[in-house]
Amino acid sequence: MQITLLLGAPGSGKGTASARLVARLGLRHVSSGALLRDAVSGGTVAGREAADHMARGELVPDALIGRIITGLLLAGGPGVNWLLDGFPRTVAQAQLLERVAAEAGGRVSRALFLDVPEEILVDRLAGRRVCPGCDAAYHVQTLPPRVPDCCDRCGRALITRPDDDEATVRTRLAVYRSLTAPVVAWYAAKGLLTVVDGVGTADAVSEQLMRVLQP
Ligand code: AP5
Ligand code: MG
Repeated sequence: MQITLLLGAPGSGKGTASARLVARLGLRHVSSGALLRDAVSGGTVAGREAADHMARGELVPDALIGRIITGLLLAGGPGVNWLLDGFPRTVAQAQLLERVAAEAGGRVSRALFLDVPEEILVDRLAGRRVCPGCDAAYHVQTLPPRVPDCCDRCGRALITRPDDDEATVRTRLAVYRSLTAPVVAWYAAKGLLTVVDGVGTADAVSEQLMRVLQP
């Protein structure tokens, strides 16, 4: 089991890049945010615990997301190669991942960090529209759907993600700076980090990531 991490601030393009990479690389994509949104909309115990934290733009407790990700990785078995998007988000989560990967006979092989300046993050989140069915993300200017307000993949009506309002975005960026930026430094100290310029078209960013993953 090899685990590739896609790290980056809210709006840095983790989900967009993941969708373009997984098919080409044979990786299994897991977005911790998408898993949590599914749990909230499904009304599960985990979803009820996560909902208020997510609505405020804060992280859900480490123990909660840790249980979900641990269960997935252990159930996947040794042959699966993962692309994790949005996990780990705290140093405690990174330490947990190290233990769980070792237990499953695998390891984190690399961490890719999508580097995007904050003013671009704010613009991207303000213009984002998402599919409530498959979590595909669009942007009203830079990545519009083929049919206005309609998901290209599954045809559902697009929505604005409830945590993309201006005040919640400010909280998410502050949480990122205080709790998640140290995770990037943690992987850099381990020699596993590659910084990728996340500015440019979605296709150009994916090509850069491909060059790092398949030199
Ligand atoms: P999550 O869903 O992970 O949200 P996030 O990290 O804030 O990241 P986003 O999904 O908002 O951005 P993204 O980087 O995927 O960008 P995207 O590709 O969509 O988490 C949500 C919540 O769940 C958290 O706030 C927290 O409460 C909880 N949570 C999740 N994981 C957790 C964890 N591990 N621990 C604790 N809590 C956790 O792109 C953004 C926009 O830009 C789109 O409109 C897109 O079309 C556009 N775009 C993308 N790339 C480009 C490009 N290259 N050029 C132009 N436009 C682009
Ligand atoms: Mg995302």
